[in-house]
Formats: sequence, C-alpha cells, structure tokens
Amino acid sequence: MYMKNSYALITGASSGIGLEIAKNLAGRGYNLILTARRTELLEELAKEITDKNNVHVDLISKDLSNYEAPKDIFEFCESKNYHVDILVNNAGYGIKTSFHETSIEIEEDFIRVLGTSVIMLTKLFIPKMLSNGGGKIMIISSVASFAAPSAIQPLYGPIKTFMNRFSDSININYKHKGITSTSVCPGFTTTGFHTASGVQDEMDRVPKFMVFSAERIAKEAVEATLAGKSLCVPTKTYKFLVFMLKNIPQSILRLIGTALAPGRYDRN
Ligand SMILES: NC(=O)c1ccc[n+]([C@@H]2O[C@H](COP(=O)([O-])OP(=O)(O)OC[C@H]3O[C@@H](n4cnc5c(N)ncnc54)[C@H](OP(=O)(O)O)[C@@H]3O)[C@@H](O)[C@H]2O)c1
Repeated sequence: MYMKNSYALITGASSGIGLEIAKNLAGRGYNLILTARRTELLEELAKEITDKNNVHVDLISKDLSNYEAPKDIFEFCESKNYHVDILVNNAGYGIKTSFHETSIEIEEDFIRVLGTSVIMLTKLFIPKMLSNGGGKIMIISSVASFAAPSAIQPLYGPIKTFMNRFSDSININYKHKGITSTSVCPGFTTTGFHTASGVQDEMDRVPKFMVFSAERIAKEAVEATLAGKSLCVPTKTYKFLVFMLKNIPQSILRLIGTALAPGRYDRN
C-alpha cells in the first residue's frame, strides 16, 4: 500500500501527543506533513525530525477553528502530490472559562477544532485513500469519552464520545475497502494541554501513577493504528479504568473521580 510519495498527515503536530506520533512515524520511515498554528515551531521540529530520520517532512500552518483550514490542508497535499495514507486527527484543547461565561463563538471554535475539522479532513482524504487501495485514520479521543461529563469543560467529553462513534462509523463503512479508523483514548498525559486549557493546577494534583508520557501514548497509538484496531486505550491503568467506566454505576464513578482528580467533577 505504501508508496514513495506516501505521507502521514498529523494535526496538532507542534507539541505533546501529536509531536510524539510524528517522531514515532518518522522513526518507522514515514514521510510527514505537520500541521498546527505555530509556524516557527513547526519549522524547527520539521528540521529536527528530518535531521534524525531519512524521511521528507513538510508543514502547513493552519488554525483548524477556521472553516476553510481542512480544505486548505487537503489542497496543499494535492498540489504537492503527497499521498496521505495515514491521517492523524490529534489537534485539541480545553476551554479555560466556565460554560456560562463563554460566547457561543468560543464553543463553536472548540467544536470545529475537535469535531468538524476531523470530519472534514476525513471526508476529504477518504476518496484518495480509496483510490490508493486503503489508508489508516487515527482520531485522538480521550478516556473522558467514557466518563460522566465534568462540571468544567462540559463539551469536552461529549465531543470525544462523538468522535468515538464517528470512528466506529468509518470502520463499519470502509474497513472492507482497506480503510481503518482507530480511536485512541488516552488518560492524563504530560503535554502542553493542561497549561493551554487552564487546568494545570488540577493536573498537578493527579496521582503520578495515573500520568503517562506523550511518547508512551504515541507508541501505543501508532501500533494500534498500523494494526487497524478500532479502539486503543493506552496503558493497563486506563484499560482498567475504562472497563470500570463502562461497568460501574455513574454515581459511584463520580465519587471515585472526585477523590482521584479533585475539582474535575465538583467545581462549579
Ligand atoms: N494531555 C492529556 O492529558 C490528554 C488526554 C486525553 C486526550 N488528549 C487529547 O490529545 C490531543 C492532543 O493534545 P495534547 O495533550 O498533546 O496537547 P498539546 O500539547 O497542547 O497539543 C495540542 C496540539 O493541538 C494544536 N492545536 C490547538 N488548537 C489548534 C487550532 N485551533 N488549530 C490547529 N491546531 C491546534 C496545538 O498546536 P498550536 O498551538 O501550534 O496550534 C498543539 O500542537 C487533543 O485532542 C486532546 O484532547 C489529551
């Protein structure tokens, strides 16, 4: 399936899980297209990855809250004749402000970055994957997709649940045509996410055994995606937690969640 001009496109590649996925794929010999908003950082990272690996790395800086961004990214790949065989939908963040204090525009941007842009990129690249004989899609969701929505960032969990269901629908419709979609559901991971989302204090209170490195998450995510698995919950700790989330009454889960991650469930 993989050709010389075969590429992996990674959104949110400038830091955290996306950056580690990019490094992991480059280590396996995949050419890369990196995208995020911070152009200079992407340029530095592209050079660093190219220096360490015998792969071609290109970049396009785009803000995925802009409705046109997915189309611009697709057209960039088309204009360079890059075959995107692996699409990694990773970009994401949390909203710092309480729901009752945000404008609808802030919520809509959030839905566009974590939801609509994922659907648009997937929709744009699937026809190319079909004509190339297949492809792999990765969607970075979250353990939050299985949990009760928290008092802060009330749309975060629901949009990740939506992404899991969307990923399922891609598998049902395209697996027999060689396209698989892997929904990756990490738990607490050390990245720029918590500072960017204004919840670093809460992250600092999470017990160390529940926090994993972005490198570890990326490794498990890439392996599952290349193997065509539909769901990947990295680490045994979070596999166990997801089992609990699926099988234990919500009222008990809230008590446990409040004990393990104070503020996440009980803050107004
Ligand atoms: N960290 C965790 O504990 C955790 C747990 C479960 C799931 N996740 C998920 O993992 C994914 C990656 O997050 P992370 O933890 O690696 O956080 P991160 O280090 O903050 O990385 C987020 C990435 O998304 C990009 N991004 C943010 N807003 C964007 C926008 N409007 N347009 C384009 N790119 C944008 C950022 O790049 P620029 O700022 O340069 O645009 C950055 O590269 C997210 O989907 C998140 O929901 C994280």
